[in-house]
Formats: sequence, structure tokens, C-alpha cells
Amino acid sequence: MKELQKIAVIGGGGRTGQYLVNQLIEKGYSLKLLLRHPENFTMQSPLIEIVEGDVLNPEAVRILLEDCSAVLSTAGQRQDEPLVASQASVNIMNAIGDRPVRYVVLAGLNVDTPSDEKGEQSVKATEWMRATFPAIHNDRQKSYSVLAESNAEWIMVRVPYIEFNGNRAEVKVSGTDSPGAKIDAADIAGFMINQITDDTWLRKAPFISN
Ligand SMILES: NC(=O)c1ccc[n+]([C@@H]2O[C@H](COP(=O)([O-])OP(=O)(O)OC[C@H]3O[C@@H](n4cnc5c(N)ncnc54)[C@H](OP(=O)(O)O)[C@@H]3O)[C@@H](O)[C@H]2O)c1
Repeated sequence: MKELQKIAVIGGGGRTGQYLVNQLIEKGYSLKLLLRHPENFTMQSPLIEIVEGDVLNPEAVRILLEDCSAVLSTAGQRQDEPLVASQASVNIMNAIGDRPVRYVVLAGLNVDTPSDEKGEQSVKATEWMRATFPAIHNDRQKSYSVLAESNAEWIMVRVPYIEFNGNRAEVKVSGTDSPGAKIDAADIAGFMINQITDDTWLRKAPFISN
């Protein structure tokens, strides 16, 4: 198993990101959080170091990753802001370079990959996303291509509707289609943290659900 030092988190102030940060701290990881507005972040721990910056800024991402062994991202698209997913992946890949730094990124089930066998519900959800938010959908798809074309250690975790109850339950995993219609943010956090050391889904985009 890889010896873990410090974990970088992007989106740690968001709804899912807060579960991720809490669980990482509970496990004793030292964290570096990239935050655009540190003043809005209320969680406190001696294990947390804050880097102020935007994931669209390559230099901020470089500083974030310089002493980290993995980077976990729950960054999401904000309304009326520049597209974030694909450029974030480009910046993260460039900052990782040839180092064995693992990138675990959260995405919706609307992303398509060549090995998918999406069922009716997932196809419907994908088509809805494509029709309703075409630019965001295409940018997410582009983000997947950035990863697929790289030699880095990445895992894209695809999820359906997220609930924020904080209840842990069984997590179902599939490489071909979403096994269910929803998942709790606490279970997403747990699964993403497991991916730091688990090679099962390396360079793949598993679907998870409760
Ligand atoms: N909610 C769902 O049902 C659902 C379903 C499937 C997939 N997803 C995906 O899951 C992820 C997490 O969802 P969520 O609901 O937890 O998201 P969220 O609460 O909206 O949080 C998004 C986070 O991303 C950060 N962020 C956005 N743009 C950034 C930038 N340019 N630089 C740095 N940080 C940036 C935000 O920081 P600021 O506070 O600075 O804006 C925020 O902390 C998203 O990628 C979303 O697309 C969500």
C-alpha cells in the first residue's frame, strides 16, 4: 500500500465536500483545501491547511498539489461562472505531471464511457442533462476525455441524485450502469476516500449508489 502523506481537496466547502473533509479528518489525514472564499469555511482542525485560490488557476493548483499524494475533487459548476470540469482536470493533470499522485473526481451519471451499458433510467437522465445543460454536459464529457487520454492514476466516481442525510448504508458499485437512483453524500465521501488506496477502479469511472 502507498504511504499516505497529505491529501488535497477541491470543493471541500461544498455540500458533498464537507462530508469528505469530515471523514478524511476522522481518519487522521492531513489536508490541503483549495478554497475560493476561505472566510466562508467554518470547519476547524489542526489537520487542515487552506490554500486560497481557484481551480481554474494553474498556479493555485500547482501550489495545492506540490506536497500531496492524492487529490480528491467534488468541485461543481456554479451558475453563470466559466465552465470548470475540463479545465480543472487539465490543471490537475499538469500539476501532477509524472508523479504517482492519485486523482479521484466526482461526476454525475450523465458522463458516458466506452464500456457503459446504461439502462433506461440512466439513458433518460443523460439525455435530460444533455438537453437542459448542454455546455455543462459537454464539459464534463471533455473532463472524462482528459483523464482517459492521460497516463495518470485517476478514478472518476459517477453518481445519481445526491441526498444529504449523512446516513451510511450499503454502497453498490457497477462499471456499466448506475445500480440505483440515489446516494447519500456520506457514502460518496467514504467511497472516494477508499479510492486513495484501492486499485480496483483505477483509470475507470465506476457508478455508485445506495
Ligand atoms: N447534487 C446532486 O444531486 C449531484 C448529482 C450528481 C453529481 N453531482 C456532482 O457532484 C459534485 C458535488 O455536488 P455538490 O452538490 O456537493 O456541489 P456544491 O455544493 O455546489 O459544491 C461545489 C463546490 O465546488 C467549488 N467550486 C466551484 N467552482 C470552483 C472553482 N472554480 N474553484 C474552486 N472551487 C470551485 C465550490 O466552491 P465555492 O463555494 O467557492 O463556489 C463548492 O465548494 C458536483 O460536481 C456535481 O456536479 C451532484
